[in-house]
Amino acid sequence: MLEVKELSVEIAGVQVLRELGFSLRAGVCTVLIGRNGAGKTTTLRAIMGLLLRQKGSIYLDGKPVHDLPSHARAELGIGYSPEDRRLIGEFSIEDNILLPALALNMSAGERKRRLEEVYELLPELRKLRQRPGGGVSGGQGKMVALGRALMVADKVLFLDEPFQGLAPALALEYARTLSKLREHRPDIALLVTESSPKLLDEIADETLQIERGVLTAA
Ligand SMILES: Nc1ncnc2c1ncn2[C@@H]1O[C@H](COP(=O)(O)OP(=O)(O)OP(=O)(O)O)[C@@H](O)[C@H]1O
Ligand SMILES: [Mg+2]
Repeated sequence: MLEVKELSVEIAGVQVLRELGFSLRAGVCTVLIGRNGAGKTTTLRAIMGLLLRQKGSIYLDGKPVHDLPSHARAELGIGYSPEDRRLIGEFSIEDNILLPALALNMSAGERKRRLEEVYELLPELRKLRQRPGGGVSGGQGKMVALGRALMVADKVLFLDEPFQGLAPALALEYARTLSKLREHRPDIALLVTESSPKLLDEIADETLQIERGVLTAA
């Protein structure tokens, strides 16, 4: 599904990722574990095309995507829920969820179908849909970011530290939502980052470990 080969990234003269290589498969939940500053977010941003890579290649279903602009990678079905959520405070929750679909010029029918699917998976978002983006809690914001990523994640879904800062009850709910998602969309390839392996024990099919920009055996 998604294959990353020898991916290297340098930021401000510092080598942040060194020749990462891994692949994500349909229906498999891969967990990327690493401490603060290890390179988890950089890995996701580089695959999304939000950061320039120094070297390396990225293939989606065998086709190179590493030279495509970020929106084109999203259009091919890679959804990304960033760790800092990035909701637009003045937009409603529903508009925040719809944003990537609008940016990609998705047809109105398709947009409606996907939004309905998001609301089915995350019913609490339906209740919040008219609230402004700035008017939800941190935990609720994580759910919104998940919904927004799901609008485009046809094939691959990246979740950057989804459990960070969630109270235990919300973390449990989030984990349940992920299980539901996997039942509902069994062929999605999932990559979830976390700093502690324990949180994701139950949902991980495969584990990767990153240390100072290098993948090490988990
Ligand atoms: N814009 C930037 N300028 C300089 N250095 C950066 C920048 N972004 C990231 N880095 C450095 O790259 C390294 C990897 O950062 P990254 O954000 O990928 O780590 P992370 O594993 O996501 O950490 P965390 O668990 O804290 O989110 C860190 O050493 C960080 O300081
Ligand atoms: Mg990070």
